[in-house]
Amino acid sequence: MDKQSIIELAYLAAAVCFISGIKRLSKPSTAPGGNRLAALGMLVAVVATLISMGNVGWEFIIAGLVIGTAIGAWMAVRVEMTGMPEMVALFNGFGGAASAFVAWAYFAREVMGSADPTIYSLTGETADVGNLVTVLLSVLVGAITFTGSILAMLRLSGKISGAATVYPGQKLINGLLVLTCIGLMYLVVENPADPQMFWVLLGVASLLGITGLLPVGGGDMPVMISFLNSLSGIAAMLTGFVIQNTMLIIGGSLVGASGIILTNIMCRGMNRTLGSVLFAGVGAATGKAKRRSKDEVPHKTAEDAAAVLENAQSVIITPGYGLAVAQAQHVVRELGDLLAANGTQVKYAVHPVAGRMPGHMNVLLAEADVPYDLLYEMDEINDEFERTDVCLVIGANDVLNPLAREEDGGPLAGMPILNCDKSKIVMIVKRSLSPGFAGVDNPLFYDPKTMMLFGDGKKMVTDIVTEMKS
Ligand code: TAP
Repeated sequence: MDKQSIIELAYLAAAVCFISGIKRLSKPSTAPGGNRLAALGMLVAVVATLISMGNVGWEFIIAGLVIGTAIGAWMAVRVEMTGMPEMVALFNGFGGAASAFVAWAYFAREVMGSADPTIYSLTGETADVGNLVTVLLSVLVGAITFTGSILAMLRLSGKISGAATVYPGQKLINGLLVLTCIGLMYLVVENPADPQMFWVLLGVASLLGITGLLPVGGGDMPVMISFLNSLSGIAAMLTGFVIQNTMLIIGGSLVGASGIILTNIMCRGMNRTLGSVLFAGVGAATGKAKRRSKDEVPHKTAEDAAAVLENAQSVIITPGYGLAVAQAQHVVRELGDLLAANGTQVKYAVHPVAGRMPGHMNVLLAEADVPYDLLYEMDEINDEFERTDVCLVIGANDVLNPLAREEDGGPLAGMPILNCDKSKIVMIVKRSLSPGFAGVDNPLFYDPKTMMLFGDGKKMVTDIVTEMKS
């Protein structure tokens, strides 16, 4: 078997590892194994690629590996669970930038450095227009993904406002930028010997990444992160076609396809179309809720909560972002176990966009060994709330805000929510009356059947557990 066949076989093995790894990610019990399998696939792919490159500047590759591994390990240890979405946004951006760089390098070497660049042009005799168009698409998608992801990262980390920015003529300007990119691509293909239009294309595509993301904000940001993830995969796939690398084509297609499937699932979870997320500027009102004093509602104590919970026949625990901030998952499981031992039926309701990343709550609850069969998706459990004695909400807000059911409910309007307000008693553990991610006040806080338990999630649940034990 020749060297090329062995490399292609290694790529095939790596692709099998990726696909089986992704499949295993669908269940918490098999997810760690799936992650390891996909990482093994990546190792095989990297080694095979290095071998296929033959005699290369190993000092640069080894230096890159050492620096990259050190930064990756440092980030993995340092980044909090709540900071994962920013990190994913950053990774998407780097993926897009890497694809754009590779395509740029190819353009510089193969097209500009060619003795006869006209072979790439529309008029060239042995025209290779298709290849040049793929290079330009790779640069275009990679640059859009890079600048869009950096903006998303700054928004999610709170370094700039998370609200959507809308201004008159926004759609027209974005439309014109798209047309400009297409026009510039045509100009580059028509005259590849002149690199100026290539630089302009790179600049306009980078600008489009920012202006395209400006009207997306508030609760729509997670969908955008997933969409950018898909774009980074598409950029990698295009780059794979440019440099004729099978692994990059397969890996990029997998990321592109899984990203768009997740985008679709999240759009459905928020009752939006991708078009309305990208263009409607729905999150523009983010952060506008009036500041309210805790004294506007009666305060209840852990002792009050324990007394009610001890007499409840059924309890649905609804976790949200605040559970992750407070790291309350372990003590919440302890409370669940205590209630179950007391004869109470306990279930956990998980909203598709609770927290700050897909599956955020599932990961936290799995970490605390909450049995997976007690976790229910929104559609499975929503009809049960009205038959439930207590809905215990820990650090969740937007995902149960009844305003979402109203047409003029602002950034949350139309988002399907957990029917917590239908249960007989609602207990909400949070530190204040401040709004959630979408910046919308929550009328459920002021409902007479709601018991507001003000305090840090972990501390309050620990106090309830202590009360129940005593
Ligand atoms: P949010 O609506 O963001 O509400 C979280 C609540 O947790 C806040 O109101 C906050 O109130 C409370 N909190 C914070 N720290 C706490 C602590 N230490 N102890 C107790 N409570 C604490 O969360 P949610 O209901 O999970 O909704 C998620 C939102 O994020 C949605 O709007 C969604 O669209 C968006 N989003 C989701 C994702 C994904 S993919 N899941 C990604 C990005 C954005 P206090 O400050 O008063 O304590």
